[in-house]
Order: sequence, then C-alpha cells, then structure tokens
Amino acid sequence: MTYRVIQWMTGDVGQVGIRHFAQNPVYDLVGVLVHTPDKVGRDAGDIAGIAPTGVIATDDLDAMVALDADCVFYTPVIMDVDTVCRLLRSGKNVVTTSGFFHPSADFAAPAEQIRAACADGGTSFYGGGIHPGYAGDLLPLTLARVMSRVDTIHVYEVVDVLKDAPLDHIDWMGFGKDRDRFLSEPTILGLGLPFFAQSMYMIADGLGVQIDEVTAAEVDVATARTPIPHEQGAIGPGTVAAQRHEWTAWVDGRPLIVFHAIYLAGSPDQREPAWDWGETRYEIVIDGDPPTELTLRGVRGPDGEMVHPGYDWTAMAAINAIPEVCDGPPGWRTHLDLGLIRPRGLVRT
Ligand SMILES: NC(=O)c1ccc[n+]([C@@H]2O[C@H](COP(=O)([O-])OP(=O)(O)OC[C@H]3O[C@@H](n4cnc5c(N)ncnc54)[C@H](OP(=O)(O)O)[C@@H]3O)[C@@H](O)[C@H]2O)c1
Repeated sequence: MTYRVIQWMTGDVGQVGIRHFAQNPVYDLVGVLVHTPDKVGRDAGDIAGIAPTGVIATDDLDAMVALDADCVFYTPVIMDVDTVCRLLRSGKNVVTTSGFFHPSADFAAPAEQIRAACADGGTSFYGGGIHPGYAGDLLPLTLARVMSRVDTIHVYEVVDVLKDAPLDHIDWMGFGKDRDRFLSEPTILGLGLPFFAQSMYMIADGLGVQIDEVTAAEVDVATARTPIPHEQGAIGPGTVAAQRHEWTAWVDGRPLIVFHAIYLAGSPDQREPAWDWGETRYEIVIDGDPPTELTLRGVRGPDGEMVHPGYDWTAMAAINAIPEVCDGPPGWRTHLDLGLIRPRGLVRT
C-alpha cells in the first residue's frame, strides 16, 4: 500500500518530510505547499536539498485542498485550525507537528472543531513531535510500564542553542537580552506551556490520574561572563546566556510531573552562575519503585562532535504514524489510541 501525501510548508520539519517521502517507497509525494514567494515553482527536492522529485511547490492553497491525497503532513510555523478542518473535510487525514496532539482542556474549543471536521470528512487528525509529543509523554509512559510505583516524573530538555538549534533561536528566545528585561517579559517557552502541558495531561490520562493544576516556577537565568561569540555576532557580557524553566503538574497536592526546559549558550565558564547542564539531550528520571531513568541523545561522530537530530526526530515521530492514522477509524487519534505503532518502510535495502 502506498500513501499519497502532501507536504504543507517546507521549514526545518517539512524538509525532513520531503526527504523521507522521497526515500521511503511507502509514500508518494503528490503536492507541496509553501508560503515563501521564492520557493514557489521550485522542485520539492531542490528545497529539501535532494535530487528533483518532480513535485513543484505552489502557494495555491485551494489547489492543495482540492488535490486527491491520503494525508497532509502539516508543518507550518503556526497551526490554522480552520485550514486543518478544511483539509479534514476534504477527505484528507492530517498529521502534524504544529501544535495540538492531545485534546487537553486548554484546547477544548479547537478540539471540538477538529473532531467535527473529522466526523464530516470521515478522516483523522494526529499530532506528534520530539517534545512535546514523544520525549515528555510516550517515553515516560513507556518507562512506567516496567515500574511498580511512580512518585515523580522529571523530564529534562537540555539544548545548546549555539550548537543544536537554528541561529534565529538566539534572538527569538531572548538570548543576549538584558536580564531584568527578559525576566519582566513573557518568554517564548513560557508562552508554549499549554502545548507542553498536553504531554503532562497525556501522562496523567495514561496513568489514570487527574491533574489538579499545572504551575510555572520563576524562570532562572544565567548571564554571560564574557562575550559568547556566534555566527552572527556575540552574546554580550551581563546579558541572558542560559534559561531554565520549570513546570509542575500537581496530582492530589503532590508534584507528579516536572518538566525542566534548559536552553544554554556557551560553556559553563562563560556563564554566571557557571551552570553545567551537560550536552543537548532529553532525560527522563522517574522517582519510584524501582527508580528508573533514560537519556535520549544523538550519536557522537568520528570528529567527537555529537549531532542533535531534533528536527528529524520531530518529523519522524509524526510521519511514522501516517499509515496507522490513514488506515484507522476517523477522529482525533492520540498516542493513547494508537498504542504501539508499526512504522512502515523504515527497513530498506
Ligand atoms: N513538538 C515538537 O517536538 C516540535 C519541534 C520542532 C518544531 N515543532 C513545530 O513544528 C512546526 C514546524 O516547525 P519548523 O521548525 O519546520 O518551523 P519553521 O521552519 O519556523 O517554519 C515552518 C514554515 O512555515 C511557513 N511559514 C512561515 N511564515 C508563515 C506564515 N506567516 N504563514 C504561513 N506559513 C508560514 C514557512 O514555509 P515555507 O518555507 O514552505 O514557505 C516556514 O518555513 C512548528 O509549528 C513548530 O512549532 C514541533
């Protein structure tokens, strides 16, 4: 069986999609929608850095909605719920990394819209990603399978922004900002809390308990002790060089799930305080019986450098569910509905 897919936008995640759909015989790339004018008319392979695919990128949204396909891999910078509902009503399943993946109370209204569109179109909606969507929900639930008591689940996301994130993250996340100004304004990660909290609600649903509330601790900041150079300049002394966000899901008055989002620039000796959180990784530590932990990270290459495949993991966490989402019953499908998915076409000669 081949699944005809449309790639909806071609940023970091969408380009992984194009490369995978071109390589994996289970998929047939039939359309590519872009937003950036310069990309219109270009072959999808050219956009994604591979050989031509024969599929030409367009910005004609209506034509893409009208195109016959089994699934849309929907990866724009921000999800537009009305567009997702149009796609679902047009008979195409939607698999996405852009926002929702578990219908928590924060997203009750769009969840209703999406469920109604699935019912009208006889189609399914599914979301995933590395975090949220895998490291902070599927992995803790998977670890819990081998435990007899769970007390507290800690999920650490540690990212070296200068090595393992696109350069735009420096400005976008407030690195190089005055410390007091940074702490007095909303942060990008803080604004994302309802999206990360979906993972917490998924863990709680999976463990059969109810979250009373999700709280955010004050953000911790380390500043640059010396200028921290990067490709577009430097993070100035005294400005934000590291940030740690801590979010807690409380169950029966106790902290059941604690997410730590730690984003760093430079080395510990370039920071005040000299936080040493180690390399980019996801780490799940479960206090309970038996205490259990797991670390997910890239592999060190022959040059000793570790490559962080964050965008590949993000895209593939969602893409590998496409066959089951297309073949299964209609509706908003979550990890909890799909259970252990069976990826297709990963073993190739
Ligand atoms: N859960 C996770 O683990 C995880 C991890 C990473 C990313 N994500 C999410 O996945 C999605 C894609 O991430 P990404 O890194 O690929 O994003 P990205 O590179 O920042 O942007 C995605 C694409 O969106 C299109 N776009 C830009 N401005 C737009 C606008 N004003 N209106 C409509 N489209 C616009 C562009 O498409 P063209 O270039 O084709 O014109 C852009 O390349 C985002 O929603 C992101 O938050 C999730």
